[in-house]
Amino acid sequence: MDKSRLSERLAEAVQSHILQFWDELSPEEQASLAQDLQGMDLLEVNSFFQAAMQLSGSAKQEKVDNHMEPVPREVLGSVTRDRDSLQAWEEQGLRCVSQSQVAVLLLAGGQGTRLGVSYPKGMYNVGLPSHKTLFQVQAERVLKLQQLADRKHNTKCSIPWYIMTSGRTMQSTKDFFIKHGYFGLSPDNVIFFQQGMLPAMDYNGKIIMESKAKLAMAPDGNGGLYRALGSQGIVENMSSRGVKYVHVYCVDNILVKVADPAFIGFCVTKGGDCGNKVVEKTNPTEAVGVVCKVDERYQVVEYSEITLATAEKRNADGRLMFNAANVANHFFTLDFLRDVVQIYEPQLQHHVAQKKIPYVDTQGQLITPDKPNGIKMEKFVFDIFQFAKKFVVFEVLREDEFSPLKNADSQDGKDTPSTARHALLSLHHRWVLNAGGHFIDENGTRVPAIPSHVAAESSSADVNMNLKDGTDLPIKCEISPLVSYGGEGLEELVAGKEFRPTLVIDNDGVHQLVKNGV
Ligand code: UTP
Repeated sequence: MDKSRLSERLAEAVQSHILQFWDELSPEEQASLAQDLQGMDLLEVNSFFQAAMQLSGSAKQEKVDNHMEPVPREVLGSVTRDRDSLQAWEEQGLRCVSQSQVAVLLLAGGQGTRLGVSYPKGMYNVGLPSHKTLFQVQAERVLKLQQLADRKHNTKCSIPWYIMTSGRTMQSTKDFFIKHGYFGLSPDNVIFFQQGMLPAMDYNGKIIMESKAKLAMAPDGNGGLYRALGSQGIVENMSSRGVKYVHVYCVDNILVKVADPAFIGFCVTKGGDCGNKVVEKTNPTEAVGVVCKVDERYQVVEYSEITLATAEKRNADGRLMFNAANVANHFFTLDFLRDVVQIYEPQLQHHVAQKKIPYVDTQGQLITPDKPNGIKMEKFVFDIFQFAKKFVVFEVLREDEFSPLKNADSQDGKDTPSTARHALLSLHHRWVLNAGGHFIDENGTRVPAIPSHVAAESSSADVNMNLKDGTDLPIKCEISPLVSYGGEGLEELVAGKEFRPTLVIDNDGVHQLVKNGV
């Protein structure tokens, strides 16, 4: 191993501390450390650090309040306010799906530190009656949507599913799909690719060592997508398959409507090259990013970037003025993504995430800090909105489409396995009611249906609150995505029937379970 060449490179990048324990390392450890360093452009890493710190410093000083405008009505579509157009959008989207023009792209490269499991989040089972994992629920929605499009248009379409993983999650994710036979999807249509990793840095720009022989590495944020799309040949892969539109989403949303025809159809009809799905923010202090225009360009503004006074501003109708909460569901045309990869990606800067990063000190001791001691550098998937030629926004109902899994059940009760499970069960409960089915309790008495205005007005914050004291446990009702993608096709199974929970409707179990009806 040529230590002197390595030393030279490290000295040039002012990172010589990395070799501090070199002489104590085994030959294998030396080789592995040298290999990690070989694949890294240290000067580029330094420049990322400087730019990210500068960006975070200026963001702290300057609130964007005075530059913000809400999303104008002409680029906004809404499932509640544009009911007349909804069916046409859905048909348009389904037509695109049937022509194999739509791909889905899953962001699954995160580390899931708050959830605290050692395996990829998509492999998590939130405790549904079926015990399905997030990956399985999503895979089955892809399958079902292909079937719906084929049936309607007499085609044999495919929805390629691109799954972005990181160095830490790639192998276990692939193994999981292989073990489960790709959940019935064609393996050719499930394409894994890997995002980049960057070293964690201390506040002085020194790379943190997680052991004497290993740099502390972390994925470069979900906006690492764009670099990976280019470096891993994904744009070409999409192009060769005839893909024109891409739906990008996060692994942790149990309610996600993958390749949602209404969303795709809306964006295509409006001629958008970049679209974002949002839900209504109803509580001014909810810590979500909102989509708005800042100096004529669209972006997501985080709650921390604005003053409370701005967050509290209301329109004449009483709704919050900045209410378009980002739920990480994006639409891009392939042409737009190609431009992003070729032209815009290098202009995107990393954001700073302050973290507690375990490290070895100068004595070689492993220290686990109890307060943030350094930063991870991350790009965000929504950073490219500013480059859109035609940006459009699609508003959907939170209780139908958004319930992210972020935290373990033992924490503050928000966005946990329980809230995710309850969100799905209560959606499926409503599907059964809408299709004319009823539920009875153990005494055979009909359970009153939740008045729809209550459901529509309750935010996930309310749901979380109720779950804590156990007063709002949903009826246990789970419908396999293989039976229904979005509540359709249930009438013949449930109309006029009464069910006692737990009700599970799946491809094999429908007849068996319908027998529960009285
Ligand atoms: P989060 O920011 O919630 O991160 O990611 P996380 O990894 O799931 O959880 P924490 O913060 O460590 O607890 C939102 C989405 O972006 C993806 C995640 O997999 C999730 O789908 N993501 C995040 C990536 O794909 N790459 C990253 O580098 C970061």
